[in-house]
Amino acid sequence: MNSESTKVPPAIGNPLQRARMLTALYLVQEQYGWLNSEAIDRVSERLSLPVGQVRSTASFYSMFKLEPQGGFRIQICEGLSCFLAGGAETVIELLSNLLGIQPGETTADGRFSLEVVQCLAACGSAPAMRVNDELYENMTRLEIEELIGRLKGQEI
Ligand code: FES
Repeated sequence: MNSESTKVPPAIGNPLQRARMLTALYLVQEQYGWLNSEAIDRVSERLSLPVGQVRSTASFYSMFKLEPQGGFRIQICEGLSCFLAGGAETVIELLSNLLGIQPGETTADGRFSLEVVQCLAACGSAPAMRVNDELYENMTRLEIEELIGRLKGQEI
């Protein structure tokens, strides 16, 4: 084996621009609601990075969405702490029934998306869920029903 074959291939693009990519993707997702081709192209152009590199980075992180999302993006945790606190399957089933969709789906009216995640960094106050940027902790069945009822009556 020669020394050339053991070298790590060089990263593409300016390191500073690569470091800015996650923030840029987050901001453009806030603006578009998801990362469509236009959003990916925009980040690529602004940071002078290859489109493929931006797209592959976006697809790696679960916080980035490559498909349209509902106005209320609901994430429910199925991590161990939430599972032990009575969350996970029970809460997922409750939310599915309340919204009429399964995890990974968006309601036909585009108002709600439901996603199951592994941890919301709120393990000490499980079960936890997130709606857009708002974290809800120690959720009971009644609180979840009230929250969804309230959101159904709200403008997006
Ligand atoms: S396991 Fe649910 S928030 Fe961490």
